Amino acid sequence: MLCVTPELAPWAKSGGLGDVSAALPVALRASGVDARLLVPAYPGLRAACKNERPLADDLHFDGDFAPARLLSAELPGTAPLFIIDCPPCYERPGGVYQDGQGRDWPDNHLRFGLLSRVAALLGSADTPLDWMPDVVHCHDWPAGLAPAYLNFARAPRSASLMTIHNAAFQGIFPPATLSALGLPPQAFSSEGVEYYGNLSFLKAGIHYADRISTVSPTYAREIQTPELGCGMDGLLRHRSPHLSGILNGIDTTVWDPATDPLLAQRYDAAHLTRKRANKFALQARFGFEVYEEIPLLGVVSRVVQQKGLDLLAQIVPRLAAHPVQLVVLGAGEPELERVWRALAEKYRRQVAVTIGYDEALAHVVEAAADIFVMPSRFEPCGLNQLYSMRYGTPPVVRATGGLADTVTDCNAHTLADGTATGFVFHEPTGAALHGAIDRALAARNDSAAWRALQLNGMRRDFSWQAPARRYAELYYALIAERTAPGGSSPAD
Ligand code: ADP
Ligand code: GLC
Repeated sequence: MLCVTPELAPWAKSGGLGDVSAALPVALRASGVDARLLVPAYPGLRAACKNERPLADDLHFDGDFAPARLLSAELPGTAPLFIIDCPPCYERPGGVYQDGQGRDWPDNHLRFGLLSRVAALLGSADTPLDWMPDVVHCHDWPAGLAPAYLNFARAPRSASLMTIHNAAFQGIFPPATLSALGLPPQAFSSEGVEYYGNLSFLKAGIHYADRISTVSPTYAREIQTPELGCGMDGLLRHRSPHLSGILNGIDTTVWDPATDPLLAQRYDAAHLTRKRANKFALQARFGFEVYEEIPLLGVVSRVVQQKGLDLLAQIVPRLAAHPVQLVVLGAGEPELERVWRALAEKYRRQVAVTIGYDEALAHVVEAAADIFVMPSRFEPCGLNQLYSMRYGTPPVVRATGGLADTVTDCNAHTLADGTATGFVFHEPTGAALHGAIDRALAARNDSAAWRALQLNGMRRDFSWQAPARRYAELYYALIAERTAPGGSSPAD
């Protein structure tokens, strides 16, 4: 199996996709799948690579692609790697998708077109390697053209699986990019890569892939509705028999409060009182009053519409009228960042905002907070609520996507049967969020119930073991389909 991805944590990461791309192939290998990764050779990632070996020195493709090289390499803690070396595409400072000013790279169609194109080469009869994947597993729009290229590639060909981590990101480019990407004219149709007059990488993936998955069962249903399908809902309904939802896992070695080297004090379910040393350290760090009784709310998030941080911003004045502290770590839309900076300025003794990306502080906030807040408008899966439950920090979440699938609302019934793990609200409004935070604050007054709630979350199995099995079953189903009599055998 070849996992094709634009992100790989910690070397190239803008969000949860980076974490998933690093951890899933490792879990697949543990369950017996020969999973390997294909990623662009970004400078930061390249610098960490060991044992590089050239595999193909001069890859030329139709269209406007610069020549590229394919190498094998190793990175600690992840699956064997193929990297695409193409300095004009990848060797530059800045992020995976954007420059330092937050502007999309103008040649993203070529940067990720090349990723998709090389993936299809490795899954076709023209591969330069002596290893061919049964399945090319494409993650998000940057890998979305791989199933399209595969469709036009020489057989035998790999099967393809398109995983949607976020349907709002669709890789849309003007029609003229078709020839730059070396795709044949007939691909530009509604039965192809065309999407409302433009070319969409995600649309292509959904159309051409043999199977489609997304990262939670609820989001798999939601993207088939006009509200959350972002325009892809019609096509997704059409492909519904081939669409499934598989919840993400988390890397339980990186995210483990018992061994986390980034914490002021490590702890586990048997030593939960040690957690508070982390709270005291964070309170001191931000110049807050240092004491246990005051509730500390935590947020780690991209600061964008999707995450509903504007809803939280609305209610800060009301929250701050009570003894409550709030720590926010995030970066994203400049306007929303400004709102949060102003709140931190105004409520200096109770609200601390760190604008930026800080992996170490993310771990500290998960451990130090009493309550984690994640009021997303939509959330395909969400990893932070899983981290927070594992760290004994019950989350307040909106009932959407993977949040609905992973957090069980705390009430008398769920406390009694031991399933309660957090606080769930429904309407995307400040009032509904406020109601859920109030319930969490009230629940904290009953220390025995609160401890039970924390332990319920800490004991849940969020590891990759079960999800990796589900992916492996999907791959095996695809392979069986290909080899069944009457199926489209790879030798077609
Ligand atoms: P999304 O991928 O939509 O941003 P997820 O919850 O799936 O949301 O994953 C977010 C990941 O990015 C988590 O690993 C989280 O810890 C991390 N993260 C998000 N913002 C920051 C930040 N400002 N600093 C450090 N880590 C962050
Ligand atoms: C996307 C989604 C997030 C999900 C992550 C990994 O970034 O926004 O909900 O957890 O991908 O699948």
